Amino acid sequence: FPLHDYNTFHIDACARYFVEIDKQSDIRALRSDPVLSALPWYVLGEGSNILLTRDLEGVVVRNRFRQLRVMKEDDESLWVSVGGGMHWHDLVTWSVDNNLWGLENLALIPGTVGAAPAQNIGAYGTEVQDLITRVQALDLFSGERHEFRNADCEFSYRSSIFKREYRNQMLIHRATFRLRKLEAGQANLVYDPLREALADIPENNLTPRHVYETVIRMRREKLPDPEKEGNAGSFFKNPVVDEAYFAVLQEKWPDLPHHHLPGGGIKIPAAWLIEQCGWKGRCLEGTDACVSSKHALVLVNRGHATGEQILALSRAIQTDVMHTFGIHLEPEVIIL
Ligand code: EPU
Repeated sequence: FPLHDYNTFHIDACARYFVEIDKQSDIRALRSDPVLSALPWYVLGEGSNILLTRDLEGVVVRNRFRQLRVMKEDDESLWVSVGGGMHWHDLVTWSVDNNLWGLENLALIPGTVGAAPAQNIGAYGTEVQDLITRVQALDLFSGERHEFRNADCEFSYRSSIFKREYRNQMLIHRATFRLRKLEAGQANLVYDPLREALADIPENNLTPRHVYETVIRMRREKLPDPEKEGNAGSFFKNPVVDEAYFAVLQEKWPDLPHHHLPGGGIKIPAAWLIEQCGWKGRCLEGTDACVSSKHALVLVNRGHATGEQILALSRAIQTDVMHTFGIHLEPEVIIL
């Protein structure tokens, strides 16, 4: 089964089997097939955070739970439970159409609702872990349903229990988000460029839609469109160094951009490190595997790159950043 249209890098790879799940009973039914049951299963949303480096000799399981249900409401908040297969940006748009605060900073992130808790998506100062109250997941071996409260999800920077221990073992059936009503909430403007972009509007007059539209504009300006140049967003995580090492780096690079983390440690933008090494806009020689000329943290397929070529490019970048700065860049996308 060709996966070219099911991964946003648009890599030509195939899966042995491809199934879509939209009922809890589908899992038991598929498991009763001895051929399917003997193979490894891979959970796929919209394929916007994976790099396929080979054909998958197994079963690709696509999440198709797409219902949205308002669960409860009080004067300040509304709790909405959403199927893991729904397109993420559709949920954000729904929340903005209903004048609810919470998701607007996360507009236009590619992928599904199920991928949001799995990799704890974040942008412009918001992380989805701040909004999720619970996650219901289906065990892909037994078909049983499990409930996770926020604390059970073990959220961290771009990760959770679903991306680690339960990867390809659990399918996210539904996630519940607590959103604030217009009067009870406010814009999250901790990300400086967002605050600056909205500085003309008095803070009391801001609505979720103002933020949503600004985020959409900023993303369109800064990030390559996966429809035009295949990509999976940030390829690496932003590394964190300790105070002592930061002092060493700052002596050599006084302009090093950085951000002090509340729990200690200093986060450095990987994009800056990659750009300093001269990679921005450059390609792996003789291939379509390139670093975006819009944003150095995004690796792109300019046409016919293979997964191996993108991987080779990522390794060349890791080597250069290690030699120049002594920092290891850890991939953020899942490499299969
Ligand atoms: N920069 C460069 N060169 C570039 C681009 C950026 O030097 O080509 C430097 C600038 O100093 C800039 C800094 O990097 O101030 C940070 O750039 P940006 O604000 O674009 O954010 P980022 O750290 O590269 C992170 C997330 C993004 C998210 C943005 C905005 C990670 C791995 N990535 O990127 O998330 O949209 O912040 O909040 O944390 C994703 O996860 O796929 C993703 C796109």
